[in-house]
Amino acid sequence: MSEAAADIAEILFDRDQIAARVQDIGREISRDYRERAPLLVSVLKGAVYFLTDLSRAVAIPAEIDFMAITSYGAARAQSGVVRLIKDLDVEITGRHVLLVEDVIDTGLTAGYLVRLLQARSPASLRICTLLDRPYRRILESLDIAYRGFEIPDRFVVGYGLDYRERYRHLPFIGTLRDDVLESAGPPL
Ligand code: IMP
Ligand code: MG
Repeated sequence: MSEAAADIAEILFDRDQIAARVQDIGREISRDYRERAPLLVSVLKGAVYFLTDLSRAVAIPAEIDFMAITSYGAARAQSGVVRLIKDLDVEITGRHVLLVEDVIDTGLTAGYLVRLLQARSPASLRICTLLDRPYRRILESLDIAYRGFEIPDRFVVGYGLDYRERYRHLPFIGTLRDDVLESAGPPL
């Protein structure tokens, strides 16, 4: 077992379960966006692993693009106040945009991104998230069109998700051991 894998308390979804779910969502998107060539947009870095796999599971022409954001200050996990540090490369006016997220927790980050993108008048804008953790949701109005898995109220890592920039490379999604979380302080 790798050093990183030894820090995992429980594997929630293994490589095969993730791959199967990504195929399912890819099929749904292919059906829903027939003849519409969606633009798959995600935020660096966590959602990149999901987005690249999803783009290969989609059987219709689709483009990808990326944004990067950073959160402000001490209250960042709760405030939803984020700053755009890399914008999309392409114009989205009149495009069918699918915002691809790794995990939606409070929903504040996704809410901010939806407002930002909506202001550019896309033809449509929907949300696809691999993981949904509904327990701490603040933005109740968030409409999630595609969802991979609902997860328990535990911090998770792997398949792109990090804890202090570690564990992204793990091929599965799992919870971290309490002693690992406690010894290193808060995740965000
Ligand atoms: P929200 O704004 O509270 O919905 O938080 C969303 C962002 O917080 C995600 O895009 C992740 O970067 C991060 N995040 C939330 N929960 C987790 C987790 O369990 N593991 C790793 N990152 C997380
Ligand atoms: Mg992170």
